[in-house]
Amino acid sequence: KIPIWLDCDPGHDDAFAILLSAYHPSLNLLGITTVHGNSSLPHTTHNALSLLTAIGRPNTPVYPGSASGLVRPAVHAPAIHGESGLDGTSLLPTPTTTHATEPFVESMAKALLSTPVGTAWLIATGALTNVALLFQQHPEVASHIKGLSLMGGAIGGGFTPAVMGKVDDKSRIGNWSAWAEFNILVDPEAAAALFSNPILNKKMVMIPLDVTHLVLATEEVQSLLLHGKGGMEKAGVLVDGKVGEGKSTLRKMLVELLLFFAKTYRDVFGIEEGPPLHDPLAVAVVLDGISEAEIPFYDFEEGKEGARERYDVHVVTEGSHDEALNGAETGRTVVKLLPKGEDGVKIPRGLDVKRFWGILEECLQRADAV
Ligand code: BDR
Ligand code: CA
Repeated sequence: KIPIWLDCDPGHDDAFAILLSAYHPSLNLLGITTVHGNSSLPHTTHNALSLLTAIGRPNTPVYPGSASGLVRPAVHAPAIHGESGLDGTSLLPTPTTTHATEPFVESMAKALLSTPVGTAWLIATGALTNVALLFQQHPEVASHIKGLSLMGGAIGGGFTPAVMGKVDDKSRIGNWSAWAEFNILVDPEAAAALFSNPILNKKMVMIPLDVTHLVLATEEVQSLLLHGKGGMEKAGVLVDGKVGEGKSTLRKMLVELLLFFAKTYRDVFGIEEGPPLHDPLAVAVVLDGISEAEIPFYDFEEGKEGARERYDVHVVTEGSHDEALNGAETGRTVVKLLPKGEDGVKIPRGLDVKRFWGILEECLQRADAV
């Protein structure tokens, strides 16, 4: 099994990242750190604990991390995730465990350094504050781990057929500002520190919005997750305007979360088909290329399947959060394709979406059996 550590800010899509991390048979989830982001740190920590209780993994250690950025105040996303960070369901259980009290950076370092060299992945699905602090205080972790996978950033410029923003605003590439994706914009200094770390950037995989917007939780997907395989033929999702019973309370809860997420994405971004499920893709990419139950990601220049692309990623740190909302490029991820053979950040251009949903559903089957 691949040892992984998940740093997250749950978060509707983070919830599915937790599910995949905890229940994919090829992954061994060592622990979770929480970070400010979708909501405040107390909320994201509570949500992580509650989700772990809901999926039957309450003993996974959860360490509260940073409550604000390296140098910036926190920014939250109530318009997308609600005040709690996980609005939309009354089925979230009271956590049966409490969070760990040891310092989070030391705990991450200890767990990762106790894995065999070149095996563990650190996966980040929130602002990158905790992760930047880890490598600042324990630079030796960079050469020890196999990789750092993160959901963050936006590329645009025809990188993939991105569907960002209101349909009438094709120039927009970010989701929180015209240029920037939320996780990067919240703490751009943290992101910049990681992408400019010469050991780490060769081990980084970045999952930008351009990729996550290819993975929409459509009605068909919601039905698959609620009813299991063959569900769509059986039934839709709604009964009298509410999520129906489905195969388990856990499935119902997750689909209620998805419907809340779908509504905010419709209202805020005008995306009708279903919300992009960003965060579990940063987990899924760790499974790319492993023989058992892999999820193939496509990593090639357009039209040249098999070619190997690597990038240099520069994060714009000039400007305040407010200036970003008024058009500044703060938090933008500017990518440059490196010459062939040179190592750098890997940025997939797509994935086997159907397989991804199938594997997520299989994780639910395992969680249901607990
Ligand atoms: C990212 O921002 C958060 O709101 C989501 O959980 C995801 O990690 C998408 O931009
Ligand atoms: Ca997140």
